[in-house]
Amino acid sequence: MGRKKISIIGAGFVGATAAHWAAEKELGDVVLVDIIEGLPQGKALDLFEASPIEGFDARVIGASGFEETRNSDVVIITSGVPRKPGMSREDLLDINKKIIGSVAAQVAERSPNAILIIVTNPLDTMTYLALKRSGFPKERVMGMAGILDTARFRAFIAMELGVSVEDIQALLLGGHGDEMVPLPRYTSVSGIPLTQLLSKEVIDRLVDRTRKGGGEIVNLLKTGSAFYAPSAGAIQMAEAILKDKKRILPCCAYLEGEYGLKDICFGVPVKLGVKGIESIIELALTEDEKKLVAKSADGVRKSIAELKL
Ligand SMILES: NC(=O)c1ccc[n+]([C@@H]2O[C@H](COP(=O)([O-])OP(=O)(O)OC[C@H]3O[C@@H](n4cnc5c(N)ncnc54)[C@H](O)[C@@H]3O)[C@@H](O)[C@H]2O)c1
Repeated sequence: MGRKKISIIGAGFVGATAAHWAAEKELGDVVLVDIIEGLPQGKALDLFEASPIEGFDARVIGASGFEETRNSDVVIITSGVPRKPGMSREDLLDINKKIIGSVAAQVAERSPNAILIIVTNPLDTMTYLALKRSGFPKERVMGMAGILDTARFRAFIAMELGVSVEDIQALLLGGHGDEMVPLPRYTSVSGIPLTQLLSKEVIDRLVDRTRKGGGEIVNLLKTGSAFYAPSAGAIQMAEAILKDKKRILPCCAYLEGEYGLKDICFGVPVKLGVKGIESIIELALTEDEKKLVAKSADGVRKSIAELKL
């Protein structure tokens, strides 16, 4: 049994940080790809040179083309432009659709059995595009957003209560935009429902901050968007797949009737294992939650229509 191979397309902030987490966790060998000559090679070599100090054993190489990605087990796609202050994720669509369309096809040709994890924004739309361009079955193409959005919600709850992030379980549905649907009803602190620990006003404030969490970081950084937590989210998905962990995580998945939605990539809880998305979990929702889901889905549908596939 050989070592697992993880290719990461885009060696910018998210891609390079994902390579760092993957190598440190020894998930397998890592190939970092970028169109900027020298960037992936330099970052990969630097990361590999950290391995004797940190004591991780993973081969890390950089490449300017896709040949080195051949026969990858998992490919994480982060190539494309990030937001600047004042931009929405949708503003990235025109540029990023050209990049993702071509990258997904080139990756799929060389790694026909891989599982693709998309990170590039607008996330749900880029996941849909990668699914179509790769020609892969729906269980092998997914997007990372729900883990990040949920992690933000969990972080804000931990800060508010002054407790460990480790004890907070949360769930969230919907597209990766400001219309995402955090679910306080499905959120708990060591099993204690959140609604018993915080007032509705406070929960609403934390939900609002979660919805705008990406923008909060963009406004602070001014020249780019978040990358530590997004890359950690992508690696959590890769780890669940490579180790066949059967984790239940919120991911962007292709829906064929689940939640009453069809032909759309949308954030839902899934079971992640060696086959990719092994099942989609349908939650019982209140009428209000259903309305929020429908609104979020409308936004994603409009964005997918912009692809004009
Ligand atoms: N899903 C999420 O939750 C989430 C979170 C954060 C960022 N993002 C998105 O991830 C993407 C990357 O963000 P970043 O901060 O790493 O940006 P970045 O600018 O630091 O890196 C992107 C890299 O992609 C490279 N690239 C462009 N076209 C390419 C191609 N055809 N092949 C290979 N590489 C190519 C660029 O040269 C650049 O180095 C953005 O679209 C951003 O909006 C998504």
